[in-house]
This record gives sequence, C-alpha cells and structure tokens, in this order.
Amino acid sequence: MADKLTLTLDGQEVSAEQGQTLLEVARENGKDVPTICFHEATTANGLCRLCVVEVEGMRVLQPACIVEAAKDMKVQTRSEKVNRARKTILEMLASTMDLSEAAEIQAMMKDYGVDVNRFPDAERREVPVKDDNPMYIRDYSKCLLCWRCVQVCADDAQYTYALNFEGRGYETQIGTFFDKSIPETTCVLCGQCVGVCPTGALKPKREFLLEQGLSPQEISVLNTGRKRRKAKPT
Ligand code: SF4
Ligand code: FES
Repeated sequence: MADKLTLTLDGQEVSAEQGQTLLEVARENGKDVPTICFHEATTANGLCRLCVVEVEGMRVLQPACIVEAAKDMKVQTRSEKVNRARKTILEMLASTMDLSEAAEIQAMMKDYGVDVNRFPDAERREVPVKDDNPMYIRDYSKCLLCWRCVQVCADDAQYTYALNFEGRGYETQIGTFFDKSIPETTCVLCGQCVGVCPTGALKPKREFLLEQGLSPQEISVLNTGRKRRKAKPT
C-alpha cells in the first residue's frame, strides 16, 4: 500500500497517497477543479493551465493535474487569484477561437463570469475545415491545442503517430506530418482522437454532413459510392 501523507486543502486537513496529483486529491475531496487538456485516458502535460491552484510558499500558481501532493502542503483551489487566472484563460480562449460546440467549457465560462469581449482586438484562429477522409473532419478554428488527440494517436493509445503539431508560437496548430491528407498518413481511422476532442474540432463525418443539411439517405449514397469506388481497380 502506498504511503499516506497529510496536507491542507481549502483549510481542511486531508490525506493523500504518495504520488497522487493535487487534482486527484482535490476531486477525491469533492472539489470542483476545472480541466481542459487533462483527460483520464491521456498523459497530463499541464498545457491549458485551467486547473491551477494556489500553494502556500510557491511563487506561481501550480497546475493541479501534474503537481503531486506533498506533506504539509497548503492548497487553495478557489482563491481570488485562482479564480482570476482561470477567468482570464477562458477569456483568452473565447477571444481567439470558436467554442460554440464546447459545452463543458461554456459551462466553465458561466461559472467564472467570463467576459467574452474582454480582448476585442484578439486575432481569431480561423482556418478552413479539413475534409479529407471518410471518417472525420478537422475544424481547427475550434482547436485549443489541448494535445489530447495527438496523445491518443501516439503512446497513450493507438501508436499510429498520424497527428502532431505544426508551426510555432502563435502559428502552432495540430496537423499531420508535412501537412499530408489523412489518407496519406499512418491514420487507421480508429476515431480515438474524435472521442477525446473537447471542442468539436474533430467530428465524425456523418454528424458533420447532417449538420450541413444532408439527409441520412444522401449520406448513405455518398458512403456506398465511396465503397464502390474503392472496390474497383483503377
Ligand atoms: S483537435 Fe481537439 S483534441 Fe486535438 S488538440 Fe485540438 S481541441 Fe484538442
Ligand atoms: S488541465 Fe491541468 S493544465 Fe490543463
């Protein structure tokens, strides 16, 4: 059995196991710590910083999804500083990308009283939808670079390494190596990336076509046509 330690969480003494993250301890004790890049199926990388908490004696806020609990730590999960940081992160996201299909993030925005017009001059990420395969579309105007899709495509699940990032700094976006179309990559169309995407940036093709106004019959004709084409040698 792992060694136990005690720490203080929002003024209450709690116990934790050695190696548990602050997020795990907080959730075990009923604290609502919001997360975006964290997903139980993927390795936490501390990218979005929405889960930050205040730890006494530490100069900056700490990402709860990767920082481990330590003996006698004093942690605040919803201090004024924490609230302000989370609100600002959400406001920056709202100013730069399309969160219209990110229901969980919209709920967080409500919870933190986000002003969606706080950064009116922010440049929005607006790129055309990539529709290059029969299984899913990629709408990177809705991508917040949480990295979940890249991780399930790699060592966290599928080991296919079809997705990665491209560009640097502000230009960074998720893509494929050399910007190849999905059929030209190692993608096996497993759909795991679609399953972990929190914003609708990756979406099943059928759902996308229904939203575009196509009927189920029209979609099935498209699919049948595609299968026939595949079967014929060229
Ligand atoms: S496409 Fe979705 S899962 Fe991938 S990084 Fe963007 S928001 Fe995250
Ligand atoms: S959830 Fe912890 S940094 Fe994103």
